[in-house]
Amino acid sequence: MSIRIKLLLSYTGMLVISLLVFILTASLFTIAATGDIHSFRDFYNVHYQLNPLTEQEESIFLELKYLAKNEPDQLQNNQLLQDYDFKLKTVRAGLYVRREDSQVFESHTFNQPELRQHLPLYDLNNNQIRSTFNIGERFYAYAKFDFLYSDGKKGSVFVIRERSPFGEVTRRLFPIIILVLIGLIVIANVLLYRWITRSVVKPLHLLRNSAEHIQEGNLQFSLDLDSKDEIGQLNEAFENMRQRLQESVQLRLQDEENRKELISNISHDLRTPITNIKGYIEGIRDGVADTPEKMDKYVNIIYSKAVDLDKLVDELFLYSKLDLRQVPFMFEHVDIVNFLDDCIDELHYVMEEKAIELKWDKRPHQSIQVIADLEKLKRTVLNIIENAQNFMDKQHKFIHVSVQTSATWVTVEIKDNGMGISREDMPHIFERLYRAERSRNSATGGSGLGLAIASQIIAEHGGRIWAESEPGAGTSLFFTLKRTTNL
Ligand SMILES: Nc1ncnc2c1ncn2[C@@H]1O[C@H](COP(=O)(O)OP(=O)(O)OP(=O)(O)O)[C@@H](O)[C@H]1O
Ligand SMILES: [Mg+2]
Repeated sequence: MSIRIKLLLSYTGMLVISLLVFILTASLFTIAATGDIHSFRDFYNVHYQLNPLTEQEESIFLELKYLAKNEPDQLQNNQLLQDYDFKLKTVRAGLYVRREDSQVFESHTFNQPELRQHLPLYDLNNNQIRSTFNIGERFYAYAKFDFLYSDGKKGSVFVIRERSPFGEVTRRLFPIIILVLIGLIVIANVLLYRWITRSVVKPLHLLRNSAEHIQEGNLQFSLDLDSKDEIGQLNEAFENMRQRLQESVQLRLQDEENRKELISNISHDLRTPITNIKGYIEGIRDGVADTPEKMDKYVNIIYSKAVDLDKLVDELFLYSKLDLRQVPFMFEHVDIVNFLDDCIDELHYVMEEKAIELKWDKRPHQSIQVIADLEKLKRTVLNIIENAQNFMDKQHKFIHVSVQTSATWVTVEIKDNGMGISREDMPHIFERLYRAERSRNSATGGSGLGLAIASQIIAEHGGRIWAESEPGAGTSLFFTLKRTTNL
């Protein structure tokens, strides 16, 4: 059964129950008030039309009726009539007595000059004792008894009570008012039902449609219901799930794209040296290297290409192992000043050969302790310095190594005056196999793994690596390591 039908049934049920309770309460109230089980049937007619006086008024009326039957002339005794009128006044009613066409007594309570004209005619059979009449906008209920004075003249005694016009209108319009009230209950129920269906069923429909979209693989929509209730929260959770799903799908697509690019780059980088090696071996086989010098040259080229290939495979292997976190790190206390000293010493000869000025901004007698894997850290520094050499385009070649410290970190800067890195390439240089030079010419750089490896190593040390560069003027590579002792 759908929620809509359940709601409809529960609202109809509530409507029927409220009506039944309403009728039951009214009947119980009537029975309790009148003490008669049959009275409910006559509730409206008897209570409101035939018995318009209260109990006290009624008992005074009965006394007067008794007097009219037994001692009618007493109903001309002004003193007695005033006494009765006084009693009636205390229950907000009044007395009126007439004899033929003239008035014997009129209570001051009424203050109604037209009263006499509106009173009912004589009816000595007293068929209708109780009734109501109105004068203008004022309503009266009365009990009347007609009798004969001892001299045979007709007389009437009235106990009259003014009723509120509102009460009278209510009495007259009682059936309509009841119908209107029942109508109001029905309308209120219908409105409530619509409100609940709108705020519950409609959003649920939307959620179901969205789930179907997701099932079909469409994640390019957004759910924007702005209710804050439980449905709103469910909707928010659903929307978050959709966003996460979309992000993960995009990530997967991006990964797929990267993987394709990776394979294409690796194939290219492997093919270049292999093609070269093949070419030179064919040259030897075809007898092109016909002199010992030529043969030497060819063999040297083949050897250097094989070395390149070996290096590339080595780097790829290291990178993939770092990426899978399968490389063990041997952390130990290292004095970074001594460590850089050793690195620079090692490189000095090569640098001199290449006419590169390698400046090490050493602070003597200073020991800066860090926790590091010596071998991996060396690899990082060498990769960065290798880049500084490879991307050098100035006459006066210059590499400057320096160290800055803070209370908890050591920052190593390796600065060169090479060609610099363009703004577009800057965010990508730490990506695997990324090279600013798109043609992947082996003469102008390696495979694009050097900085990716350095970045993995520094991340494993808990540090940070970044670059600053001015195209044409030079590049600074920075990396940080956590210190183990304070200055
Ligand atoms: N000091 C630098 N000056 C100018 N460009 C640089 C410098 N360092 C890195 N780059 C740019 O960043 C790219 C990525 O550097 P990375 O060291 O990762 O790769 P590579 O040097 O090309 O190859 P590999 O290091 O694997 O031999 C380089 O191709 C180069 O375009
Ligand atoms: Mg490099």
